[in-house]
Amino acid sequence: MDDKLLQNGVTIPPIGFGTWKIPDGEVVASAVESAIRAGYRLIDTAMIYKNEAGVGEGIRRSGVDRSELFITTKLWYVDQGYDAALKAIDTSLSKLGLDYVDLYLMHWPFEKRVESWRAMEEIYKSKKAKSIGVSNFLPRHFESILESGSITPMVNQVEFHPFLYDQLGDIQEFCNENNILIEAYSPLAHAHNLDDPAIHEIAKKHGKSNAQIQLRWSIEKGTVPIPKSTNTDRIKENLNIFDFSLDDEDIKTIDGLGKNMRTCADPNELD
Ligand code: A2P
Repeated sequence: MDDKLLQNGVTIPPIGFGTWKIPDGEVVASAVESAIRAGYRLIDTAMIYKNEAGVGEGIRRSGVDRSELFITTKLWYVDQGYDAALKAIDTSLSKLGLDYVDLYLMHWPFEKRVESWRAMEEIYKSKKAKSIGVSNFLPRHFESILESGSITPMVNQVEFHPFLYDQLGDIQEFCNENNILIEAYSPLAHAHNLDDPAIHEIAKKHGKSNAQIQLRWSIEKGTVPIPKSTNTDRIKENLNIFDFSLDDEDIKTIDGLGKNMRTCADPNELD
């Protein structure tokens, strides 16, 4: 379970724990604590998840040293723009109870993405975020910030799972060309297709669950998946994917399962 390297030399764990839709307070604190105790080192939250305080509590309860963890949060729509974004990171850090995050992401390609990105570059330079990136960006959304900015986003976090793979070619190509790491959110497609028969056959062959096959596939695709669970057994199960690999035939089969299935909003419909 080796770390991966971002373009700025910062290392990022190969898998993360997602917290979207996990309620603040005890539920998320306990899930984050379990995840860190199980071995996750990357924890992903966002201002709009409204659970940063509970995530911070879970981090502290885990007892694991801050320097061993990789914490991500995200700038939300209402805080876009230069001044607002500079304030938003302070609010997020205060809720998390941290003095820096490892990764700060622009949550969507906002209208004011140029000014927001300028603020994020400042946040990076001030070391309140050790890396900065974006989320839900299609290749065309990068144009204005690459033209006006001085730092290329280090990460693009997008919905990425087998049932959406038919839509992901352009993003993959663009991110590969620009050395932008893809983080895969909803890597289990929100559990909507966990009984897929083709994946089930591959799972039987490897003695793994369908969820583990889907997560392993995201690893083989070069992404960092961020599965979410509030169940301790499944939290552990999702981490147990580093003792096997998929063969070429498995990957070809899974690559063919794309059917434009989204669990979240479609960035194509934003403009
Ligand atoms: P639960 O929290 O009860 O485990 P995604 O990460 O793609 O958004 O998927 C999250 C959904 O998948 C949640 O409903 C979660 O439910 C479920 N889930 C997470 N891990 C597993 C797993 N290993 N097996 C089955 N369902 C899972």
